[in-house]
Amino acid sequence: MYKAMRTLINAATVSALITAAIVSSAFAQSSLSNQGGDQAIKEIERYRQALGDGNPAELWEARGEDIWKQKRGPNMVSLEKCDLGLGAGVVKGAYTVLPKFFSDSDKVEDLESRLVTCMVMLQGFTYDQAKKNPFGGPDNKSDMEALVAYISGSSRGMKMNVTGNHPDEKKYYALGRKIFFHRGGPHDFSCASCHGADGQRIRLQALPNLLKQETARSAYTTWPAYRVSQGETRSFQWRLFDCFRQQRFPELEFTSDASIALTMFLAKNANGGVMNTPAIKR
Ligand code: HEC
Repeated sequence: MYKAMRTLINAATVSALITAAIVSSAFAQSSLSNQGGDQAIKEIERYRQALGDGNPAELWEARGEDIWKQKRGPNMVSLEKCDLGLGAGVVKGAYTVLPKFFSDSDKVEDLESRLVTCMVMLQGFTYDQAKKNPFGGPDNKSDMEALVAYISGSSRGMKMNVTGNHPDEKKYYALGRKIFFHRGGPHDFSCASCHGADGQRIRLQALPNLLKQETARSAYTTWPAYRVSQGETRSFQWRLFDCFRQQRFPELEFTSDASIALTMFLAKNANGGVMNTPAIKR
């Protein structure tokens, strides 16, 4: 724990530098380019490896495990009876089978929406209460981000294995694919504009080709992740939320059908990839 704390402090300092170097200029020009920045990317990679020994996300994982086991809500029960896809209370491996159709809610759910369902059905929260504060900041840590860090971390080393055979799962996959290629907004971007070809970059940021198996796997299996530039552990819902922003689309609603459909498309395409979360990202 102490080690993680120390890393957190280092991370905060370095994050300021990295943020200054990269984030500020990320969208200063919206053209995509292939050139420059190799040295900086190597430096970031080296920094990431140095941090890899003590990922600050450990703090989120520990807090998430605690929240999972706490008796909470009007019903004063823990989430330990929540079925995340492999049976009531099974956490290990659950992330690898999500999103998935659940008959109790009659819905296809990713991890975050499933947690919302369990908070409502088991603990007695309202949907609004369960969905508030999905993404944390310095003064309001998010319970949701802690829970996803703990639960996804419990699948570390296991292979993605989304079946997607249920008719509704097929529907969500098809919808996710459609959204991925849908162009719009002021730049006429789709997800595929940034993530549909090899070797693209916005300035220094490499844009993974999510249509190629190898990169689709490595992208999906490294979220949730500790985001150095933000000092927060972020969920996959946050990743999508932020890319809607990159795309200059209207704000993506937390646990909306669109977000679950995109997750279904990307998770299933990552099948066979080995989970390595929470990871560390710049
Ligand atoms: C304008 C360009 C742009 C668009 C459009 C865009 N993204 Fe992104 N995406 C990025 C950037 C920049 C990153 C972060 C890369 C980094 O930090 O290394 C990213 C990262 C990601 C990642 C994580 C990859 C990894 O390896 O960590 C996923 C998954 C992703 N985007 C999905 C999407 C989806 C789905 C859409 C469509 C809703 C989308 N993106 C639209 C620019 C874009």
